[in-house]
Amino acid sequence: MPRVFVARQIPDAGLKLLYDAFGRDSIVVFPEDRIISRAELIAGVKGVDAVLPILTDKIDGEVLDAAGSQLRIVANFAVGYNNIDVPAATARKVPITNTPGVLTDTTADLTFALILSVARRMGEGERMVRARQWPGWGPMQLMGSDVFGKTLGIFGMGRIGQAVAKRATGFDMKVLYTNRKPLDTALEKQLNARYVDKATLLAESDYLSIHCPLMPETTHAFGAPEFSTMKKSSYLINTSRGPVVDESALVKALKHGDIAGAGLDVYEHEPTLHEGLYDCENAVIAPHLGSATLETRGKMASIAATNIIARLRGERPPNCVNPEVLD
Ligand code: DGY
Repeated sequence: MPRVFVARQIPDAGLKLLYDAFGRDSIVVFPEDRIISRAELIAGVKGVDAVLPILTDKIDGEVLDAAGSQLRIVANFAVGYNNIDVPAATARKVPITNTPGVLTDTTADLTFALILSVARRMGEGERMVRARQWPGWGPMQLMGSDVFGKTLGIFGMGRIGQAVAKRATGFDMKVLYTNRKPLDTALEKQLNARYVDKATLLAESDYLSIHCPLMPETTHAFGAPEFSTMKKSSYLINTSRGPVVDESALVKALKHGDIAGAGLDVYEHEPTLHEGLYDCENAVIAPHLGSATLETRGKMASIAATNIIARLRGERPPNCVNPEVLD
């Protein structure tokens, strides 16, 4: 029987598929519900046929070599796979898979939760009430910004960006987007979205929401030069990957009032945030909850398991990001 190493406790739906396919003795799940250390990861992958890591586990050449040449697949428990050195895996003929599709709407919902929370100062209000400091209703109290009718800028119009655009129509928002290439006209029309360059997106958005993958070209795509051209009344929302935003420049922009606020789910050095962010009342800071619903995490677990089962049975794993290794 093949051996599978699961680097973190995942929902039962995925484990059940693996147990049914290969038997319980073939599957080793890292026993503690915490981020695995590098040494534990390297020890855990030794001699296995499949690894199921989560997005905080760095899978590079060293880890792949520690696993050994019998390794047949790394099935990431995430749609983003910037934690994996894909060229290193490709060089070793190891397919990498992800979990696309199932978390699109869940992440789009969270994006809107952040837009609404930061615009309507929900965090500040909640903190005031919980601290028993609410003096009662006041005409000037915690005035925020409307969301309906405003301009939403979407940076990265893939599946999640499009799902966010779809939600924006319910808020009568004007939708602009920047993408590697424009969507086809029919889809643009359906989403009521207009393709613009990045400079226009920065200048015109009231809410600018990031939905691009993390790549060398998108690292620090939002920093001091970008914040200086955004409206002072605008909000930055990030549910993609932390390093797309220069967090230290963001803190400065939030503190100097270059932008009105930020709704963040992801950070440059998770789980540590730039120290200044903790004091920014105009930032809503969520703990990477994008896909965190019972339904979606269950589906992500099942997809990761399905990729492993397919590969170890000699079939094509459905969500391979480096399919050239399968040819
Ligand atoms: C992903 O799958 O990339 C998400 O960030 C997980 O929440």
